[in-house]
Amino acid sequence: MGLTIVALPGDGVGKEVVSSSLRVFQECVSKHGIDVQLEEYKIGGQALEEYGEPLPDFVLEACKSSRIILLGAVGDDRYDNNPPHLRPEQALLRLRKELGLFANLRPVRTNAALLESSPLKASIVEGVDILIVRELTGGIYFGEPRGIETRAEGRVGINTEVYFDYEVERIARVAFEASQGRRQRLTSVDKANVLESSQLWRTVVSELSPDFPKVALQHMLVDNCAMQLIARPKDFDVLLASNLFGDILSDEAAMLTGSIGMLPSASLGESSAQGRIGMYEPVHGTAPDIVGQEKANPLATIASVALLFRYSLGRDDIGREIEYAIEKTLERGYRTPDIATEGGHLLGTQEMVDQVLEALHS
Ligand code: IPM
Ligand code: MG
Repeated sequence: MGLTIVALPGDGVGKEVVSSSLRVFQECVSKHGIDVQLEEYKIGGQALEEYGEPLPDFVLEACKSSRIILLGAVGDDRYDNNPPHLRPEQALLRLRKELGLFANLRPVRTNAALLESSPLKASIVEGVDILIVRELTGGIYFGEPRGIETRAEGRVGINTEVYFDYEVERIARVAFEASQGRRQRLTSVDKANVLESSQLWRTVVSELSPDFPKVALQHMLVDNCAMQLIARPKDFDVLLASNLFGDILSDEAAMLTGSIGMLPSASLGESSAQGRIGMYEPVHGTAPDIVGQEKANPLATIASVALLFRYSLGRDDIGREIEYAIEKTLERGYRTPDIATEGGHLLGTQEMVDQVLEALHS
């Protein structure tokens, strides 16, 4: 049976970075003789415009049957006043939930050629290598009750942080397993001094620890973690966090690398006989201020394609080739505006892709 990959460029710079990364994807599949079909669909603001909803059912079905998805970004301020189910972001949240993508992996590695791009001192960020494992289908993003109501005392906005033990256990397992293949240090983040959901989170993670005797587990309160990530980022190996805490900490961690335009991500489901369903996307958003100006950094999406080869196609070798080509491109001094350094060659989005392809060949 042939493989199909679904591409969902979405809004803003999503379209630019997905078409860029597909150039790298096509190059790799043809070089390695992999037979794949590519399908592309509109989601987010684009789909609202064309179909009146952020994620039409036929697009969701296409994703369910392909099981391999490359996504750009969603969001469009024209729809900011829409009710929640008609906002572009709903496409992303529904995809995550309906495809069961509970494990979001966000690797944060500093690149030797980019140390100057970080607002932090080079001595602090040099050699940082963190894997953020973020829970993606639970917590306050999906908890009930939720909504905005009017009561006698006034208007009230409500969201609920809810975690079942099995939700914590399956994401913790992913994090423990990942640390086994790394430096064997796991930091689990919570707010157990205040929140019951965090107290259960901490208990369940601790209960799993004996299954992974080689991994040193540490619990850290999220406020302290936000500070330690800046103070001593090198000490972190795998960072396990809930949906909300992982969202916030991954943007913070992005600045260790110099730009959020550098961070890839993989969102994975449960392993099954058909393999593991995976969605790959850059951590950055739609960047409306630079749309259509050839200023978007395509590297996060290209690095997401590397993760796609690794996790969905079982081709770690091709993933490494792509990551190496990105490194080489940066070493050669090529830069998009977000990571511009003195003496670097400033390039547009497509020119940057040209250089990555060049590095792949050499
Ligand atoms: C992310 C984004 C999303 C999230 C938004 C766009 C809904 O910030 O993937 O980190 O909050 O999960
Ligand atoms: Mg985010």
